[in-house]
Amino acid sequence: MSHFSYHDGVLCAENTPLTAIAQQFGTPTYVYSKAALTENFSAYADACKQHGRDQRTALVCYSVKSNSNLAVLNLLGQLGSGFDIVSGGELLRVLAAGGTPEKIIFSGVGKTCDEMRLALSHDILCFNVESVAELHRLNQVAGEVGKQAPISLRVNPNVDAKTHPYISTGLKENKFGIAYEEALSTYRLAATLPNITVVGIDCHIGSQLLDDAPLLEALDKLTGLIDTLANEGIAIHHLDIGGGIGVSYNGDRPVAVGDYLARLFARIDDWRLLKHRGAAIKVMFEPGRSISGDAGVLITEVQYLKDGAVKNFAVVDAAMNDLMRPAMYEAWHEVRPVVQRPALAKTYDVVGPVCESGDWLARARELAIEQGDLLALMTAGAYGMTMSSNYNTRGRAAEVLVDGAGFHLVRQREAPADLFALESIPE
Ligand code: LLP
Repeated sequence: MSHFSYHDGVLCAENTPLTAIAQQFGTPTYVYSKAALTENFSAYADACKQHGRDQRTALVCYSVKSNSNLAVLNLLGQLGSGFDIVSGGELLRVLAAGGTPEKIIFSGVGKTCDEMRLALSHDILCFNVESVAELHRLNQVAGEVGKQAPISLRVNPNVDAKTHPYISTGLKENKFGIAYEEALSTYRLAATLPNITVVGIDCHIGSQLLDDAPLLEALDKLTGLIDTLANEGIAIHHLDIGGGIGVSYNGDRPVAVGDYLARLFARIDDWRLLKHRGAAIKVMFEPGRSISGDAGVLITEVQYLKDGAVKNFAVVDAAMNDLMRPAMYEAWHEVRPVVQRPALAKTYDVVGPVCESGDWLARARELAIEQGDLLALMTAGAYGMTMSSNYNTRGRAAEVLVDGAGFHLVRQREAPADLFALESIPE
């Protein structure tokens, strides 16, 4: 169910008209729905429960990079979520939002010594290690601080996720993970390192997957590897299948989370029966977009309408620095007028004020709009605010969390002075 719909011709987030938010906090502003975030997280949590998993045997680690606002993290933490982080900054964010270290996993190809020390000092659940060099560094850093580092290896299963090449990560040519063929020898090495404790295995093959077949293919490769490792006396206690289920941007029909998890748990149960494995392996997930994506919109105001010989432009006050996805991936976000007009529609490119031809948010859209109207860029809750920048010395947008008919400012709009506060002019 969408939590963004028209009531009396005005687009609302839950029961809050987006016009009220724009009036109070201005534009551009990201607006998130608490009910949508809750529902999307619950799709994972409920499916785990339905398949007999409890806290010890399943853990959803929300991928912080998709939307890292403290209020969003706090809400998900309260719902029982763990967190998948990729930097020391994200670790501190999760802790500031009330997240617990024993549910934090640390992914990423480039962890620094400082980040490792920080994560070790908080006793996080697991490091998802992506290379032999990282394994050696982690072993050394853990030794220096007198700790054991719990690890899983991010195995690259060489499965085609059939998604945009920039967000496909499980192929041999990608920089991510340890090649499937090298996983066994790397686990053997890990088992000999004094400050490393092998606890799991993980993968993440890509993002915005509409079909779960590639994920199930990756699962089979991982369970095969777990059997091989068991024969060598290396026990794997958790299997983390990564994130990746997509959302509907343009009428796409991603597999329902509940259906995907039903198939995944069925395969895991079959495998356990076949191999007479007594102890349940803990299954972990790292979803981002499927939790935050359709829970957010970006509202923006039309500044100018420019009719051209070839094209009409609607110049709005949001830009590529606010929502980078169209410029970067030619991504499609639906554009809806916040207040519906009966007037005849024209075709517009919706563009921002940034000095780049790549600064567009939507192309060739039929819109009945006038100067001063509000537009909503839909399904912008994931990889929207988190990928924003200050290009053109533009302050980042405000963020608002809606809860029914109430709403809260959860991030202030950046003021120009904030943007150069850290700079200085030499004497
Ligand atoms: N786990 C790892 C290790 C990841 O790298 C990612 C996303 C996720 C989990 C979460 O994946 P999700 O469930 O959100 O698909 N900026 C791009 C998406 C980049 C995804 C990066 N990794 C976009 O705007 O489409």
